[in-house]
Amino acid sequence: MTKSRTRTETDDLIAGLDAADSLPGARELRELSYELLGDVSSVVDVGCGAGRAVAELTDRGVEAVGVDPDERMIAIARTRWPHADFRRADAYALPLPDHSTQGCRADKVFHELADPARALAEARRVLVPGGRVVLVGQDWDTLVIDSDDPSFTRAIVQARADLVTAPRAARAYRNLLLDAGFEDVEVEIRTAVLTGPETLPLLVGLAEASADRGRADDWIAGQRARAERDRLFLALPMFVASATSPYRTVPTSTPA
Ligand SMILES: C[S@@+](CC[C@H](N)C(=O)[O-])C[C@H]1O[C@@H](n2cnc3c(N)ncnc32)[C@H](O)[C@@H]1O
Repeated sequence: MTKSRTRTETDDLIAGLDAADSLPGARELRELSYELLGDVSSVVDVGCGAGRAVAELTDRGVEAVGVDPDERMIAIARTRWPHADFRRADAYALPLPDHSTQGCRADKVFHELADPARALAEARRVLVPGGRVVLVGQDWDTLVIDSDDPSFTRAIVQARADLVTAPRAARAYRNLLLDAGFEDVEVEIRTAVLTGPETLPLLVGLAEASADRGRADDWIAGQRARAERDRLFLALPMFVASATSPYRTVPTSTPA
């Protein structure tokens, strides 16, 4: 199980996820993930967070189960979407029988996992042969920002990435899926280009993770000046991987 968050940390994460859901391209990215799942009648959304995708899939007639280890996250999801099915569980021990679901989705989750191979083995356990898996996430080392201080920009991007359990999980999706025995593995990248008012808080948050307060303050001031002149630029490549669970027989095990 991943380390637990405080109530405030979960509430901050939910606010961040709500903000992310309102960014340009967020809805299209979720739609792409549903398309790549294909014509499935059941889906487990691993690391479902506050549950928007589970609700959207449920509304489309899919038997969707949202799974998240964070108790408060699940409570909020149940409050927001009372008609949808949410369960408190971990990516490593999904609350589903062997070969019982047609789709598995994990959106912005694998960067939080210390053992992604184990999570994919668990996805294979619950997926029917021919079932689909879709992973969505950003590579935390790959943010493209225009600034007057590129070396500090590099430093703050790296400093922020270093706070993440698996910052480069997204660039590893293909290899992880292949190593887990999935087939038809495909990866595409959809890049969100942010230049509007939603960009400045993201850049400020990024710089605030830096230990070099003085330089961070100068950098933030520079970005504020850019915002006033409509000169902000942040490109955020989102990796989208999809694959099929093989038809050949695999050893199964029910988690303890
Ligand atoms: C950045 S949020 C994304 C939430 C949601 N998928 C979305 O797109 O809004 C990552 C989520 O993964 C969950 N998570 C962290 N570790 C996990 C684990 N070991 N198994 C399943 N979910 C996990 C977190 O609790 C959090 O809700």
